[in-house]
Amino acid sequence: MVFPTLYTPIFHLLFILLATVPPHARATNPFVQYAVDFPDPDVIVGSAGNLSSRYNGAEATVVAWAEEMASHGPWSVTFKPVLAPSNDIHDYMSWAPYQWPNCTGVGNKTILTDEQVWKICPYINKDGQVNPDRTLPNDFQSFFNLSDAVLYNAIAATFQTGKGSKSSVYSRNVVKFIDTWFLNDTTHMNPNLNYAQMDRGPGGQQGSYTGILDLRGFAKIASGILILRKSANVDWTSDIDAKMVAWCNTYIDWLQTSPSGKQASTAKNNHGTIFVSQFAALKLIVSDVAGAVSSTQGYFNGLYQGQLQSNGDQPLEASRTHPWHYRNFNIAGMVTNARLLNYADPSSKPWSTTAQGATIQTALNFLMTTDPSATGEANTAAEIYPNVAAVAAAYGDPAGKYVGYFNRTGFEAYVDEPTFLWAHTLALAGGDSSVPAQPVSNPAAVSAAGKLRVGSNFVVSLVTLSLVGWI
Ligand SMILES: *[C@@H]1O[C@H](CO)[C@@H](O)[C@H](O)[C@H]1NC(C)=O
Ligand SMILES: *[C@@H]1O[C@H](CO)[C@@H](O)[C@H](O)[C@H]1NC(C)=O
Ligand SMILES: *[C@@H]1O[C@H](CO)[C@@H](O)[C@H](O)[C@H]1NC(C)=O
Ligand SMILES: *[C@@H]1O[C@H](CO)[C@@H](O)[C@H](O)[C@H]1NC(C)=O
Ligand SMILES: *[C@@H]1O[C@H](CO)[C@@H](O)[C@H](O)[C@H]1NC(C)=O
Ligand SMILES: *[C@@H]1O[C@H](CO)[C@@H](O)[C@H](O)[C@H]1NC(C)=O
Repeated sequence: MVFPTLYTPIFHLLFILLATVPPHARATNPFVQYAVDFPDPDVIVGSAGNLSSRYNGAEATVVAWAEEMASHGPWSVTFKPVLAPSNDIHDYMSWAPYQWPNCTGVGNKTILTDEQVWKICPYINKDGQVNPDRTLPNDFQSFFNLSDAVLYNAIAATFQTGKGSKSSVYSRNVVKFIDTWFLNDTTHMNPNLNYAQMDRGPGGQQGSYTGILDLRGFAKIASGILILRKSANVDWTSDIDAKMVAWCNTYIDWLQTSPSGKQASTAKNNHGTIFVSQFAALKLIVSDVAGAVSSTQGYFNGLYQGQLQSNGDQPLEASRTHPWHYRNFNIAGMVTNARLLNYADPSSKPWSTTAQGATIQTALNFLMTTDPSATGEANTAAEIYPNVAAVAAAYGDPAGKYVGYFNRTGFEAYVDEPTFLWAHTLALAGGDSSVPAQPVSNPAAVSAAGKLRVGSNFVVSLVTLSLVGWI
């Protein structure tokens, strides 16, 4: 991992903040689902058991989120109340979220059962308007939660076991959840997305390329698995590892040969970006590091080049009905691909790769100048925060631009977010010995810290991210 700077005002802030917290204060933030991410396993395992007290808040939040997610599991595609058109209980299914039935021209509509509506009425697209019945087959939400459960439980396991091999309730959670979703004879998912974001109505009844996004959580799952492997966790046995690798290899074949997979891989917008996030993550699970490099480097040389304007705007996302959300979503995919590439090839330079002269930082800076309420998206304003943290960590924050953004937009508890465990360089050093003496006289840092409230009574202004499952 190569980062341009080792020290930014965010770390001043972090230090001053936590230095003022009583030793036993354990702030935790409310759960949010980061759109897509790949916490670097070397960073997590490298700092395992050796985190300074300044990360207490983020660490406590990881444990809280691990436990909250675990409380919803295990998950399985076999638990949903409706079957895919194949009638195979092991097939994943989700319904295209913006598709609505038009039964106007269909006779006998008062006696149509739900199942008849799903098959007989033509479906029409209303971009941005989610049909609420899509949560009936809830496999997509289950997979999102599974992904977060695997990631946060794997990280939490390292807090208990360090780099050692001891068993832990958290790593046992990971094993149970992966076994139930992917491997168990009774509850496993078939390794395909033939019915993901399925179109209904006549001419439908099959999945679409947009549904590939449903499994973007594989980037988090890969991170969790690599963390357990690297920390030699005894609960992650060679048996479950081999079975999971076999599952992923079959699914990789499906992604490469199915019409949906092929179409998603060449989509020019966020679908193409985040296809790569998923695909490269799968390549890491099956230990094809060269494949992960080729996929992510291919993205930065290819699709990425068509996604940015010189001012950092993303025209393919800006034209959607929720431009604030989609710009953020695609930046999260860019960040994930950069992290995957940096992990797979530490000599790579994704953060400084330009498209029309712009970088990931330029894209974020542009977004920071736009107002989510101008497009009616104030409720998704918080989606930018993990992206701000990632850019601040990768490019530095010498002028306090990013710290200032947290400050100005009221996210006062940012340092207690899990992302701070991997969106910084300190953990890379295995601790914090590389941190210079804190210039507490730095006026900007002091005033920023003075505004922060932490401890059991702190108020969080973070808006809980929508869980609708965007496409
Ligand atoms: C709904 O179906 C009717 C009858 O087939 C058709 O005339 C109408 O244009 C359709 N509405 C939309 C919005 O497509
Ligand atoms: C409408 O219902 C009647 C009586 O059940 C049936 O004979 C007819 O085929 C139905 N028409 C359609 C279009 O479903
Ligand atoms: C996923 O997690 C969220 C947040 O805790 C929860 O509200 C939701 O019920 C969970 N859904 C599933 C299917 O686990
Ligand atoms: C698979 O899951 C079922 C239901 O949860 C459980 O009873 C069974 O023991 C599991 N099978 C294996 C081989 O773990
Ligand atoms: C944070 O906000 C306060 C006002 O609430 C301001 O005085 C301070 O300069 C800000 N700090 C940064 C780093 O933007
Ligand atoms: C733990 O962190 C300290 C600095 O805080 C460092 O000197 C030490 O080498 C680290 N130990 C391990 C085992 O990584």
